Amino acid sequence: MQKPEMTPEYRKTLVQMMESQAYRELAAAQMFGYGLQFIPEIKNLKFMTWHITEEMEHYQDVAKMYESFTGTSVEPVVNKRLREKPIAFAQSWFELAMAQFLYDRGGFWQLQEYENCSFEPYRTVIQKIIKEERGHQDLGMQMVVDLCKTGGFEAEKQPLFDKWFKQGMLSFGRPNTDGNKYAISVGLKKRDSGAVMQDFLNDIKPAVKACKVRFPDPKAIGLECPPGLDWSL
Ligand SMILES: [Fe+2]
Ligand SMILES: [Fe+2]
Repeated sequence: MQKPEMTPEYRKTLVQMMESQAYRELAAAQMFGYGLQFIPEIKNLKFMTWHITEEMEHYQDVAKMYESFTGTSVEPVVNKRLREKPIAFAQSWFELAMAQFLYDRGGFWQLQEYENCSFEPYRTVIQKIIKEERGHQDLGMQMVVDLCKTGGFEAEKQPLFDKWFKQGMLSFGRPNTDGNKYAISVGLKKRDSGAVMQDFLNDIKPAVKACKVRFPDPKAIGLECPPGLDWSL
């Protein structure tokens, strides 16, 4: 779709998508950057610094696209949002692994909803980011499973799972909104947030079982979910 054919609503939705994406990428870079102080060995320090660099590059990719689309910088928008809605920082190595597992994975599932986006520049950027995010996926999950198996995190594993599970689920946006319906109708995204939530749940179930934690009651953690999600383990 070329710019002149775009309706104001299409344009507005696209700008919102880019702003949220830019926010999530920079928030990830900041959160994992803050977490470096908790990493005990070089092997995982190398993984995490590489990961931070990639999140930073994703932010830059989205920022470039935003600038060529709107003619303005996304930086003030993202900085303001980070001030108003700062991302939680992990406060231990175990929590950082949990965050890497659930926050990053939520983002990965969300991005896949945009891979066939009707706006070509967004599609191109997102496909590149998805390819790189694929490489982030397994380590955090494996670390959480291994750390849980040591038995050394019995008291904190469930509260930290709840906290970062909520962050992961928030990546998808609220389900069944008019904004969702509109974005789907014009091919900006594939499906409603509820459907993506289900994919995410299914994806993490094996790790949830291996860690011997359970899914929290969504209402208890302030999460809006559609009825009929399959939470069974
Ligand atoms: Fe990213
Ligand atoms: Fe990532």
